Amino acid sequence: MIRSRIVGTGQCLPEKILTNHDLEKMMDTSDEWIRQRTGIGQRHLAAPGQGASDLGAPAAREALENAGIEPGEVDFIVCCTTTPDYLFPATACLIQDKIGAKQAAAFDVSAACSAFVYGLATADAFIRCGMYKTVLVVGAEVLTNRLNWKRRDTAVLFGDGAGAVVLRAEEDTGHGVLTTYLGANGAHSEILTVPSGGSVKPFDESPDDEERVAIYMKGPELFRQAVAAFSLAAEKALEGTGVSVDDLDLFVPHQANTRIIYSASDRVGLDRGKVYVNIERVGNTTAASIPLALDDAMKEGRIKTGSHVLLAAFGAGLTWASALVRW
Ligand code: UT7
Repeated sequence: MIRSRIVGTGQCLPEKILTNHDLEKMMDTSDEWIRQRTGIGQRHLAAPGQGASDLGAPAAREALENAGIEPGEVDFIVCCTTTPDYLFPATACLIQDKIGAKQAAAFDVSAACSAFVYGLATADAFIRCGMYKTVLVVGAEVLTNRLNWKRRDTAVLFGDGAGAVVLRAEEDTGHGVLTTYLGANGAHSEILTVPSGGSVKPFDESPDDEERVAIYMKGPELFRQAVAAFSLAAEKALEGTGVSVDDLDLFVPHQANTRIIYSASDRVGLDRGKVYVNIERVGNTTAASIPLALDDAMKEGRIKTGSHVLLAAFGAGLTWASALVRW
């Protein structure tokens, strides 16, 4: 049996940092409110003209270097993003060119904050069916140019960045991606959306469109859905694996809000010391959040060979997703 194993991780954050105190000067908010309600202290901001592929490519390169794999060995690139460089071509194609992965097929996955785990599940399926041996899964976002800076309910939440993992096919030794679980409910699509710029309401440069091309969110409703979906996704990933909550070494959730993360981990009975949180430094980076957190956790030595790592995400769509990995 073939399994896919994560053999390298990497990340890229833009240089510019916007702190909560900077935001206090821009809108009616406070560092205290943002920290208490979300856990966020700062976020990174892409430079004008810097696209998701400009962050995704260095993250992919670092993941390949850490894995000791040449770009030419990559068979397939999945880019997970809600903020692609263009409507088309796919951002994955731009990353393919930037890193020189000439042999790789490439496409994007759109599942908002759950996209990285959707992408991981896609890559894992391609590897286990024998189609590809080496796959890059990149989460890359430039969300700060999708914000209405007059709206404090969303402007304080999101940040830019990219994270990447390299998956490699291996004969099964019990290590690698053990399970993936994906879910969706399109009936609640309106509670987190960018209403304009797609085929229903193309961007028309009217003053109203400035509002509609920005992220619109019904925060409290999403909060309730998120806690339930996170808990369900976490339980589903463990189902039938023989791995219990107590066996987990690290939970790496989508970094949406520390209150959501800890409510969900308390619900599934997970010790808070095993929950990885980096939202204070980077904010909510949507599809980039889990690979960024994974790379931080690797660099801090929180993940070792044999560690059981649970990933879980929730986001627009609605979508939710989880994966259990034995490192
Ligand atoms: O990654 C995708 C998934 N994302 C999520 O799951 C996000 C889910 N939602 C959330 O994380 C939270 O709902 C938020 C952090 C967005 C908001 O926190 P909340 O505790 O749900 O606050 P709220 O929306 O109920 O607002 C409470 C108060 C309101 O004032 P009043 O009406 O009580 O006077 C808001 O106007 O806080 C006010 N408020 C703010 N105050 C200072 C909202 N945003 C801000 C702000 N600074 N930035």
